[in-house]
Amino acid sequence: MSMPTVTIQTRTADDTVCVGEAIGRCCRAGDVIALQGELGAGKTQLVRGLASGLGLNPRQVSSPTFVMVQEYEPAEEKGDCPLLVHIDAYRISCPDELETIGWSGHGEELRENAVVAIEWAKLIRPALGDDLLWIEIEHCPDGRRITLSAEGNWQTKMQAIQQSLREAGLA
Ligand SMILES: Nc1ncnc2c1ncn2[C@@H]1O[C@H](COP(=O)(O)OP(=O)(O)OP(=O)(O)O)[C@@H](O)[C@H]1O
Ligand SMILES: [Mg+2]
Repeated sequence: MSMPTVTIQTRTADDTVCVGEAIGRCCRAGDVIALQGELGAGKTQLVRGLASGLGLNPRQVSSPTFVMVQEYEPAEEKGDCPLLVHIDAYRISCPDELETIGWSGHGEELRENAVVAIEWAKLIRPALGDDLLWIEIEHCPDGRRITLSAEGNWQTKMQAIQQSLREAGLA
């Protein structure tokens, strides 16, 4: 049975990191995570959590202005976990620009040994393929509402993600 949508109410930036962490624990190389949410919603915080859930150092994750893609690698002793490729599509305005960051087709090459997380993913929707976990972060009076929606093969992973969120005390 598929559970395509999950909503989580969060109150602090740490909660957002924890949601990312719970999701990151369920990710494998090839996975693409599409983030949406207005300026300052918490997208980068969530990516920090993904890094941590994958076994990478969350302090590597940053969001410098004008950097469209960053790659975070495991420490040597954890060489078997996937890389995390962090794309900020905010300033990507045409398909040519996507190619300059190594994304062609549906990103097959970049995805080969990496989990890919994309801020402002809607801006490059046609280049993303069919298998996406959408994470929408919205401001609300007591923090942020985070909505996960599964497309394609993510539908079969939603149960594992919910379990992981439950184990983290988030759902
Ligand atoms: N659940 C939450 N409740 C309250 N504040 C939060 C929550 N999650 C994140 N924040 C705060 O939101 C702010 C912005 O976070 P972040 O930089 O991750 O946003 P962003 O969506 O990546 O922004 P940009 O669009 O500029 O890239 C941070 O100050 C963070 O502390
Ligand atoms: Mg950001």
